[in-house]
Amino acid sequence: MLNRRRFLAWSAAAAPLALQSRSLLNDTQLDVHLAQEALEQGDWSRVRALFPLDKNTVFLNNGTMGVSPYPVLEASIDSLKKSATKAHYPGHDGQLESLLAETIGANKDEIAITKNVSEGINHIAWGIALKKGDEIILSSHEHVGGCAAWLHRARLDGLSIKVIDLKPTADQTLEAIESAISSRTRVIALPHIPCTIGQVLPVKDICDLARSRGIVSVLDGAHPLGMIPFNLHEIGCDYYAGCLHKWALGPLGTGYLYIRKERLAQTRCTHVAAYSLDAFNMNAQPPALGELVDSAARFSYGSFSGALMDGAIAALEFYRSMGPERIAQRSLSLAADLQEKLMNSDISLEMLTPTETRSRAAQISFRLPNKKSLAFVQAARKQNIILRHVGENDIDCVRVSTHYYNNENDTQALLVALRDFANDPQG
Ligand SMILES: Cc1ncc(COP(=O)(O)O)c(C=O)c1O
Repeated sequence: MLNRRRFLAWSAAAAPLALQSRSLLNDTQLDVHLAQEALEQGDWSRVRALFPLDKNTVFLNNGTMGVSPYPVLEASIDSLKKSATKAHYPGHDGQLESLLAETIGANKDEIAITKNVSEGINHIAWGIALKKGDEIILSSHEHVGGCAAWLHRARLDGLSIKVIDLKPTADQTLEAIESAISSRTRVIALPHIPCTIGQVLPVKDICDLARSRGIVSVLDGAHPLGMIPFNLHEIGCDYYAGCLHKWALGPLGTGYLYIRKERLAQTRCTHVAAYSLDAFNMNAQPPALGELVDSAARFSYGSFSGALMDGAIAALEFYRSMGPERIAQRSLSLAADLQEKLMNSDISLEMLTPTETRSRAAQISFRLPNKKSLAFVQAARKQNIILRHVGENDIDCVRVSTHYYNNENDTQALLVALRDFANDPQG
C-alpha cells in the first residue's frame, strides 16, 4: 500500500530538476487515491495522469521497458537526495525481497535481488551441476538474455541443447516439450511469456512434467510480473528469473531471482561478497571465509543502488495498490480487443499470438505478408507510435504491448498507421 510518505522538499535549486515542473509528492499522493477511486468505478482514464509519459507518445512497447509512474520516480529521486544530503548509505534491508515474495507466491529467503533477468539466468545456468553430454531444452523463441548463458555453458562444458517450437495451444506446446525429453535431459529452461509473440506457456504443467521426470525446471520470467498475477509455489518451478523494469514499471536495472528452497544447497554460488557471506578474515592462517548466508540472498552481493531499490519497492507498492487482478484484466482486454480488430480487419496479416485465451496475455505479434515488419515499426515511430520489431531467431514480426496506462485511442492510432502502411505501395 502506498503508505510511506515520501517527503521531498523541493528547494529552489532542485526545482528545475522536477519532472516537467510538476510538484511531485503531494499531487501524487492525492492522485493515487483519486486513481484508486476511479478504478473502483472502472474509469482508467484518470490513471494515465499518474504517468509522466509524454502525452503525444503512443507507447506500445512496455515489453521492452516499462515507463514508471510518478510515485516510482519520487521514491528514486528521494533516495538519491537522501544519500546526497544526509550521506545515507542505502543498506539492503530485505524489504524488496519481502514484497516480492508476497507478490509472487514465494518465501522471502527464496528471493535474491539482481539487476536484470540475464543476471538471474546466468546464476542459474552456471549454478546447476551439469556434465558433458547433459541436455538442456530451450525454445526457438528465446531472448538473448534467456538463452545466451545456456549456450555459453554448453560451449564451454560440452552440453547439448535441444530446441522446441511453440505451438498454437498450451496442450500442443506441452506435447512438444514432452516428446523432446530424452534420457539425457537435465534441464528444461523456457520463458514463462516469450518476448517474441507474447504466448503464455503452460508453466505449471511444464514444471509438473519436469519434476515427474527428475528434470530441473527454469523459467525466464522477464514479462509476467506486473502483467499477470502468478504464484511460484503453485507453478512449482525450481528457478525463476524476473525483473521489475518491464510490466511492474520499476526503474531500469531491477531484477530478482527465485530459487526454490530445496534447490539452494544444490546451486553453486559463483559470485560472493558483502551480504552473501557471514564473515571473512584475511589475518587467519590460511585466510578464512565464513559461511554463505542460508538464503537465496547469497546471490545478491555488494553495494546496491538505493535509488533503484526504493524505486522498485515503490513500483511494487503501486502495483499492489492498483490491484494486480484489475490491471491484468485491463491490459489483457486491450490486447484481446486489438487482436480481434487486427484479425477482422481488411489488412492482410499473419497473426502469430495464439487466440486461445489461456495462451494469450498483453502482447500481440503479427507479420505483414510481402511487407517488412521492421519498416512498419520504423514508419510508426515517425508518428510517435513505439512498437517492437522482433528480429530474434528470424521470427521477424511486429510486437504490440498493451499495459493499463494505454487506452483504445492508442490501439486505434496503431490500426490507422498500419492501414496506411499496408496501403502504401512504397511501404
Ligand atoms: C523473455 C526475455 N528474457 C530475458 C530478457 C532480458 O532481460 P534483461 O534485460 O532484464 O536482462 C528479456 C528482455 O526483453 C526478455 O524479453
